[in-house]
Amino acid sequence: MYSVSVKNLKRYFKVYKRKSGLLPALGSIFSRPVTEVKAVDDISFNIEQGELIGFIGPNGAGKTTTLKCLSGLLYPSSGRVEVLGFNPFERKSEFLKEISLVMGQKNQLWWDLPSIDTFRLNKEIYELPDTEFNSHLDQLAKLLEVEDLINTPVRQLSLGQRMKMELIAALIHKPKVLFLDEPTIGLDVVMQKKMREFIVQYNRIYNSTILLTSHYMVDVKQLCKRVIILNKGKIIYDGNLSDLVDRFAQTKLITVDLCKNISEKELNHLGQLRSYQFPKAVFNVKKEEAVTLVSKLLKKYEIEDLNIEDPEIEEIVRTIFSKGIHE
Ligand SMILES: Nc1ncnc2c1ncn2[C@@H]1O[C@H](COP(=O)(O)OP(=O)(O)OP(=O)(O)O)[C@@H](O)[C@H]1O
Ligand SMILES: [Mg+2]
Repeated sequence: MYSVSVKNLKRYFKVYKRKSGLLPALGSIFSRPVTEVKAVDDISFNIEQGELIGFIGPNGAGKTTTLKCLSGLLYPSSGRVEVLGFNPFERKSEFLKEISLVMGQKNQLWWDLPSIDTFRLNKEIYELPDTEFNSHLDQLAKLLEVEDLINTPVRQLSLGQRMKMELIAALIHKPKVLFLDEPTIGLDVVMQKKMREFIVQYNRIYNSTILLTSHYMVDVKQLCKRVIILNKGKIIYDGNLSDLVDRFAQTKLITVDLCKNISEKELNHLGQLRSYQFPKAVFNVKKEEAVTLVSKLLKKYEIEDLNIEDPEIEEIVRTIFSKGIHE
């Protein structure tokens, strides 16, 4: 059995357009123009227990909507969703005890109370015995290095500290499946790194399935072997991140250290020059032109050093978002 299984999932929203001005607005009480937003438009995928998967896509791609369907907050328009064998929307307590959805932009902690109070409330909700609650809390607080902050009122915590407490609240029952919607948003780079380390550890220690969305490619690069790319409600890629580079990188970056100063014009004549500051010239050329360029460079000039690289994943993903995938 798959940990998460999604088949032909669709989630459409009806959106009522409001006309501006008083009279048209009054008129629209009776007939409001309706449009349909295809937030999730027929997607299918399976996830094995213990996988850590990156869910990426531009704003409005349908990532959050999918996660909400998977955690039972939204009912699908059509299609089938199964998480640990449950239909999420039934929101059975056995199901809720095994999953968690953490949204970086939303919080569940009580603002004026210390975090420990929210944790205790969740203990009751999840019906955790004292010993289990205490040991989970100790473990999580230690992993996140916030042992001495659990009694501090939430409003006195920094954003990063608060996010850690949010995670503890969401993980106190040790869910087998975890949906993380932009868990590093708004955090500084040091805290982002700590969050990533924690996510990896949590995944390893508990073998939990984690589906993570993030707009920071570094999160995805460092955490996820497999990525699912969504665009306009559709999956446009599902596979290894490394294959993405092999398959979709259309250019190569060629860096040479020249021994003699050559004019920019002359170099640009050989191939698309991206930057040049003697002795370093960087070319950005089509994959199939790379070999020719290198042999020309070697033949014509004395060269100190030469490097051929793939473009950054960010660049590839950006191209895919803007142009779509053409194989
Ligand atoms: N409750 C709703 N009512 C109407 N439209 C909605 C609703 N929720 C989401 N949408 C629309 O569905 C589409 C997908 O939204 P969603 O929040 O899933 O995107 P996302 O991939 O999470 O984007 P982001 O990266 O900005 O968080 C958007 O066009 C959004 O406006
Ligand atoms: Mg979102």
